[in-house]
Amino acid sequence: MSVTVRVPAKVNVQLAVGGARPDGFHDLANVFLAVGLYDEITVTPAEELSVTCSGPDAGQVPLDRTNLAARAALALAERHGLDPAVHLHITKDIPVAGGMAGGSADGAGALVACDALWGTHASREELLDICAELGSDVPFSLVGGAALGTGRGEKLTPLEVGGTFHWVFATADGGLSTPAVYREFDRLTEGVGIPEPTASEELLTALAKGDVNALAATLSNDLQPAALSLRPSLADTLAEGRAAGALAGLVSGSGPTTAFLAADAESARTVARALRESGTCRTVRVTTGPAAGATVL
Ligand code: C5P
Repeated sequence: MSVTVRVPAKVNVQLAVGGARPDGFHDLANVFLAVGLYDEITVTPAEELSVTCSGPDAGQVPLDRTNLAARAALALAERHGLDPAVHLHITKDIPVAGGMAGGSADGAGALVACDALWGTHASREELLDICAELGSDVPFSLVGGAALGTGRGEKLTPLEVGGTFHWVFATADGGLSTPAVYREFDRLTEGVGIPEPTASEELLTALAKGDVNALAATLSNDLQPAALSLRPSLADTLAEGRAAGALAGLVSGSGPTTAFLAADAESARTVARALRESGTCRTVRVTTGPAAGATVL
């Protein structure tokens, strides 16, 4: 018997970053939107805990106990006094180390899959608790849709979305380390007064109304200067996407994936074609958001 769970990627439509906290994390106002690129996590009873991964970027995924899927299985087993003897297989379609919460998706997916396999019947609250221990973005991977994340991003308030948005994602060669991007943010903002991060009312209204032009006008990512500083070539990708008719383009989370919001499906295809031909990115994906959170298949 095995259980498979499908989990979406995310884009941050707003990522407002505050100053570094004593624990090294940053307070955020993080508006997450789940999008239709998915990893699938299949859990099967086995002699001992192991992880395998398939997909074009599988070679970049760690298969030891640092993998968030393995950590999720261990955390749930420990809380319930169970033996985490399972094989976890990740069918990876979300860009690795791309700022799209691919690792977080695998953590949330493994947790939901193990809960179903073991019949632990953990409450939603307990699952969200474990997710928050695993990483700041993991709770959102569980819930999907759209949500405002505060604290270090783990405290979620679900948001209403009044329509479907068309996105194009351009992946880059090589990932960017999230801690490195935050460190660069700290370096770039040293000595500058950083206001408390707050969600933009205009942006939340644009999401609620499904107003793509208003959303495009309010997209923002405070980590973008840091990501561009570490990877200046991302500016070329952003310029190509905008020139091809994207309403807006920004770095997704800590990057290096860039995200482009298009007016409609046709415009998204046009932007994708131009990005592919530009030679400024590795692969290009077209999808929509919002997408559902972790779902047992
Ligand atoms: O929570 P997560 O493990 O995903 O965070 C990875 C790293 O990103 C942290 O170790 C920290 O360096 C940085 N981070 C941060 N502030 C946040 C979230 C993440 O500084 N709110």
